[in-house]
Amino acid sequence: MTQDELKQRVGQAAADYVNATVAPGAVIGVGTGSTANCFIDALAGSKDRYRAAVSSSLATTARLEARGFKVLELNEVEVLPIYVDGADEIDPHGAMIKGGGGALTREKIVASVAEVFVCIADASKRVEVLGEFALPVEVVPMARVAIGRRMLALGGVPVLRVRPDGSPFVTDNGNQILDVKGLRIHDPRALEAQVNGWPGVVTVGLFASRGADLCLLGTDTGIERIDYASH
Ligand code: 5RP
Repeated sequence: MTQDELKQRVGQAAADYVNATVAPGAVIGVGTGSTANCFIDALAGSKDRYRAAVSSSLATTARLEARGFKVLELNEVEVLPIYVDGADEIDPHGAMIKGGGGALTREKIVASVAEVFVCIADASKRVEVLGEFALPVEVVPMARVAIGRRMLALGGVPVLRVRPDGSPFVTDNGNQILDVKGLRIHDPRALEAQVNGWPGVVTVGLFASRGADLCLLGTDTGIERIDYASH
């Protein structure tokens, strides 16, 4: 099965899970990326079951609205029973690297409010130790070089994310992203706290202090459900 087929399957499994566990009339949190897009498409047929969605990026907002979902600002919402999003890597404890699509800050904000975080991923995203995928760090542009030096001191190799035309990639929040290669992240909670404490860092793409509660993993043999509360 191709990676795209696995993503579609897991998107459908996530839609089934949300329809089975979330009360009608709820507002749901929706992540960003190709797997999250599969989830949006799979959930579109049940959109009237939900009051609205809270989105983690401008791209997701556009996709949700194109499929008829109402999108609310997080500031307008009191309770978010669930947040469904992809990941670039997920470890055996539900800690993740996210931000390959550049939406890490809004993703982390929405995830922090949600009662349940469901990670949806194809099997290639499962790792023992985080760090093979370059760690995204959203930075205020004037701090880019200073943060890069700190990352070098930790043994990482920071690379400024650029667009196809070579200009710096700009996040939905007007910032830039350093992709840090070469890290083996054995203590993601500690690294998340450390990097988030550096002036100029908006968000590090480590989701460990608020990791996934549940992962729906698309494999060649079907959907594997991993519940981290039991780990
Ligand atoms: C976007 C993300 C995505 O969830 C992550 O990059 C996975 O993307 P995809 O589902 O396309 O593989 O964190 O910022």
